[in-house]
Amino acid sequence: MRIVFGLQVFILILFVYPANAQKGYIRNNISYPLGASVDGKLLLNNAVYRNLVAAEFNSITAENDMKMYRIHPEENRYDFTMGDSIVAFAKRNNMRVHGHTLVWFSGMPDWLKQFKGSNLKFEEQVKHHIQTVVSHYKGKIASWDVVNEYLAHESDSVRTCILQEKMGDDYLAKCFQWAHEADPDALLIYNEYGMEWSEKKLQGIIRIAMDFKKRKIPIDGLGVQFHLKIFNSNDTIVRVLRELSKTGLKIHISEFDMMVNVGENRKNVYTDSLKKVQQEKFVFVFNAYQKEVPDAQKYGITFWNVGDKDTWLRPTYKMIEWPLLFDDDYQRKAAYYAVLESLRSKK
Ligand code: G3I
Repeated sequence: MRIVFGLQVFILILFVYPANAQKGYIRNNISYPLGASVDGKLLLNNAVYRNLVAAEFNSITAENDMKMYRIHPEENRYDFTMGDSIVAFAKRNNMRVHGHTLVWFSGMPDWLKQFKGSNLKFEEQVKHHIQTVVSHYKGKIASWDVVNEYLAHESDSVRTCILQEKMGDDYLAKCFQWAHEADPDALLIYNEYGMEWSEKKLQGIIRIAMDFKKRKIPIDGLGVQFHLKIFNSNDTIVRVLRELSKTGLKIHISEFDMMVNVGENRKNVYTDSLKKVQQEKFVFVFNAYQKEVPDAQKYGITFWNVGDKDTWLRPTYKMIEWPLLFDDDYQRKAAYYAVLESLRSKK
């Protein structure tokens, strides 16, 4: 009798424990992929980082390793080494790979920035780049940021840059068509920043999405970078997600992080009150995404790298920041648990 009872408890633990353990991860409490951008070198060299990425995320983006200046450093030389290594890691761990980014005015190699040939030859170079990279990863990369940051800062007009000067204002559409020719199964996304600051930009993105649909330019999604600051308005976050969803396209929160060290708070101290505001806004964004974006359009939430010490904000702005869900030692922060609890309580 006692043995039978013991066996029953054992069997119960065997089934219940793994289910509970799984619920202890954000990724297992949402219906869409949870992503992180990664640094290929860190992934190779740091086991703690690598194991954390494999455990916590089911989608990855190369933070820099697939940008044009890395993957196509010379006119006649492509270097897929690091990109391939990220894709192999993803495959080993059953993760989706989101490609970032085929074309970006700021991610171009010197040889193309200084290109001396005709406009037509320049265009051929960009087309060749897109089609070579997309073909290389055909069947391995689920989706691409085809063009990043096409619109000018806080504006609904095309950014003045070498791409626009040489290829014309409509270069965005051309890039999408070329990418589609190379892999008709890859989902194609237009990635932008700053719609949480600029209504003009939000309207510009929507106008482009609707125009592409009308012209049958193959576009599948919109990337909302969401490099937020703790004082971004919640109403605007909701409005951005709601309005963009009306396009019917997939919505990817593609580069999520949240600065705390801003404005009057710029004291380089991560106080308890700042932590609290930040954690509430992380929870808010997850809830808003859940509520405002229809399930079929949820492409995922991707953080821009993993632990606070990996953030681009520190080297870029030469100051300390803590914008992510994991700390400098790759431990979950209170914000992680706050998001987790909020998701679990709603199930
Ligand atoms: O790897 C080299 C290193 O060898 C060298 O010693 C060091 C010295 O400058 O530079 C290192 O490369 C830097 C790289 O980040 C890796 O840390 C580049 O200089 C630096 O420009 C690069 O910055 C990246 C930036 O895009 C420009 O490509 C950031 O990491 C990356 O987070 C940022 O990501 C962008 C998205 O692609 C688009 N949206 C905005 C977002 C933030 O700017």
